[in-house]
Amino acid sequence: MSKELRTVSGMRPTGPLHLGHYFGVLKNWVELQHTEEAYFFVADWHALTSDYADPSRVRENIRDMVLDWVAAGLDPEKCVIFRQSEVKEHAELSLLLSMITPVSWLERNPTYKEQQQQITTKDLGNAGFLCYPVLMAADILMYRPHGVPVGEDQLPHLELTREIARRFNHFYGALFPEPLAMLTPAAKCPGLDGRKMSKSYNNGIFLSDPMADISQKIRGMFTDPARLRKSDPGNPSVCNLFPYHEILSSIAEREDIRQGCTGAQLGCVDCKKIFLKNLEAFLAPLQERRASFAARPSAVTDILLAGNDRARAFALQTMSAVREKMGL
Ligand code: TRP
Repeated sequence: MSKELRTVSGMRPTGPLHLGHYFGVLKNWVELQHTEEAYFFVADWHALTSDYADPSRVRENIRDMVLDWVAAGLDPEKCVIFRQSEVKEHAELSLLLSMITPVSWLERNPTYKEQQQQITTKDLGNAGFLCYPVLMAADILMYRPHGVPVGEDQLPHLELTREIARRFNHFYGALFPEPLAMLTPAAKCPGLDGRKMSKSYNNGIFLSDPMADISQKIRGMFTDPARLRKSDPGNPSVCNLFPYHEILSSIAEREDIRQGCTGAQLGCVDCKKIFLKNLEAFLAPLQERRASFAARPSAVTDILLAGNDRARAFALQTMSAVREKMGL
């Protein structure tokens, strides 16, 4: 099949991925690889914008993340999987785009301001962190995509990407499309404690978690806090578990659960057993695929080596047009 639309996206290598990553973004990637020419990359330079003081885990995190990608169904035959730092053209484009990006745009970026305030364990006063969105614009515009599958948290960055593209086209003539965000229809994945599932909150269920750990995690999950006994009617709309039934259970099963909960017949313990059963059925094939890739020590390296070459070939074309337009 010839694929007419092109898309690109990346993730920082923060280590193993959890259900929030999968249902928020990765599932979308896996579907897109069938219909679009798709580039997916490990944003390892982006990881350094905040973790520059201790990069000791970057390599291991890259391996874990790529294993999760292929476990989830990304197929290196169907999409290009590569590593940002191996396609140096991203750095060149980032430098060139920084020439036309006003510092005020970067300083007023809400994600930048928020993280500066919230993250107190690292010093984020470095230039690399301020320029994060310029590098991200380079990652994206390099592949001249029509859209970028990302989570909602990336929307301010994508807005900046469009503004930078517009400014480039205005100065040097049309080259870059203004890519749109392709959001996954909101799948709500609360963490074990009810907050957003996040590695830094330590409230995640990871795709690679052993089933025994998962069953223990589910046992400790918060349900409807007002429901103390099975004989109390529960309220699925305030329960952390119910959103997972919406994702993983069949429609019939979900309706039974809803009625059993609100009608005080189905207790939280039994409801959790259904969740565990469905989650196991969902994760088993992923974990099997993961294990088969992990068993071959060079599997991840091979995938990235091949992908790096394909991404670079595309990037070189964009860069010769960029250099030409910028008078280089
Ligand atoms: N900022 C993204 C994240 O935190 C990672 C990223 C870097 C990215 N460059 C990108 C995502 C380009 C999409 C497109 O996950």
